[in-house]
Amino acid sequence: MTAYGSFPGSRPRRLRTTPAMRRMVAETRLHPADLILPAFVREGIDEPVPIESMPGVVQHTRDTLRKAAVEALEAGVSGIMLFGVPEESKKDALGTPGTDPDGILQVAIRDVRAEVGDDLIVMSDLCLDETTEHGHCGVLDSEGRVDNDATLERYAEMAQVQADAGAHVVGPSGMMDGQVGVIRDALDQTGYEDVSVLAYTAKYSSAFYGPFREAVGSSLKGDRKTYQQDPANTRESLRELALDLEEGADMVMVKPAGPYLDILAKVAERVDVPVAAYQISGEYAMIQAAAERGWIDRDKAIMESLTGIKRAGANMILTYWATEVARQL
Ligand code: PBG
Repeated sequence: MTAYGSFPGSRPRRLRTTPAMRRMVAETRLHPADLILPAFVREGIDEPVPIESMPGVVQHTRDTLRKAAVEALEAGVSGIMLFGVPEESKKDALGTPGTDPDGILQVAIRDVRAEVGDDLIVMSDLCLDETTEHGHCGVLDSEGRVDNDATLERYAEMAQVQADAGAHVVGPSGMMDGQVGVIRDALDQTGYEDVSVLAYTAKYSSAFYGPFREAVGSSLKGDRKTYQQDPANTRESLRELALDLEEGADMVMVKPAGPYLDILAKVAERVDVPVAAYQISGEYAMIQAAAERGWIDRDKAIMESLTGIKRAGANMILTYWATEVARQL
């Protein structure tokens, strides 16, 4: 019976013998409700514009965004995270389209809410990079540095206009110190106690955001290293986590997801609020590109990447494949 002395003394392979057995003992299951769809809407276009570095993802028109939201809802996706791309000529130093009630993001929030009501959670990116001419996530001081506290004033205003437009959840992604607290106060003082804050708690300065910059037509020169975190660090994330919770975050997020699963696991271990992870544009593009060349099995790679993120501890996953995957589940 045994080929080599007393080994194997134990046979873990018994639990892998058939698909039914593997299914029964699976510890991690993806569910459509785990998924949130990030979506881009661009001002002043009549047709959706494909994003070259994210094959299959587009900058939506107001109309196609509405449809995409309904499709996500019908597929069982929980939420949609909206990013607005204003007309280039409207971008300025302060990111004015971000606080204009008729700015593209606010218009899109209203459009989507009119379509989905309270059945799909409508989330909005609360950040200035999509609306500033320099492409930074905040406003600049006279020396061209990102001015933390001046930016907080802009964020407070953005929180209010996004809530006015009907956002259920705001997602501050700019990594300014104190942003969660300022936004929570601004919402509470304007009667939006029920609007939640999904804090981008551990947001790393990542090369994998590359395709997103095309998606939002960002004009950023340089980098975001004075506000986004150094990929080398863990403790920094735990400190940001403590601060965000203290400041009133309802949910916390780790971003990117795949290269930061250790961070995600540590965050998930430590908190008693829901934990989200964002599988970002570069993670999407890598799988799409390799699959296009026939180098990996696209569908299996997608499922594996998402299962890994959930296994590491995410309750919610933002992914550009949300609707497609939800349909398959
Ligand atoms: C900032 C923001 C970024 C992403 C989401 N919010 C870009 C950045 O920080 O440079 C990236 C998302 C992705 O890459 O899919 N508003």
